[in-house]
Amino acid sequence: MNKFLSASLMCADLTKLYDSVKELENAGVDYLHLDIMDGSFVPNITLGFDLVNAIKSITDIPLDVHMMVNEPSRFIDRMKLDKNDYLCVHYESDVHVHRTLAQIKDRGVKAGLAINPQTPVECLRYLADYIDMALIMTVSPGFAGQKLFVGAERKTKDARELLNSLDCSSIPIEVDGNISLENGRKLSRCGADIFVLGTSSLFVKDKNLAQAAADFRAVL
Ligand code: DX5
Ligand code: ZN
Repeated sequence: MNKFLSASLMCADLTKLYDSVKELENAGVDYLHLDIMDGSFVPNITLGFDLVNAIKSITDIPLDVHMMVNEPSRFIDRMKLDKNDYLCVHYESDVHVHRTLAQIKDRGVKAGLAINPQTPVECLRYLADYIDMALIMTVSPGFAGQKLFVGAERKTKDARELLNSLDCSSIPIEVDGNISLENGRKLSRCGADIFVLGTSSLFVKDKNLAQAAADFRAVL
């Protein structure tokens, strides 16, 4: 499978978001990752639905929306997404996540299922037929600038093996949190396909976005 870069907009300069998006277009990133939080499922609040729609209106880069909110089904209809975009919900945030995944696909959007570090990959087994992407959190969600959790490589490998064993080798695995060049290289070898790039590799001092994206691609 090809490897894809997803730029985490919460880590961009929020005072110059339009410019950053245009710079990311030139840098050739594959997705824009938008973190939606509710201050309850995770102890932080970042980007919101209106911003998702505003970003959608200024770029053709597909969006990769990561919802860290309780009962995400309440909000699926608030975003104007299309068949090229991912809408990702957390396994832990929704008692009826199977129904929510179907709701996302009914809207013609690609459905992603995210799992926290402590959640076993086994929960993907009976949901694999309903997802277009599995998001393995490599830190506890909520904040940029954290450290990769120790089991991240093992878990990515386990997830890839499970999906392959289910004849779902075409479902990409996304990794999110502390994806530095070094961690990206390792996780790529474990079977990760989409890399959420934040403060650990893309939005860094002394490097423009195009250079940082190129440097990351070079290690995959
Ligand atoms: C949370 C966010 C963060 C962040 C990643 O879901 O997606 O993980 O953007 O960036 P760093 O590199 O700071 O962990
Ligand atoms: Zn995220």
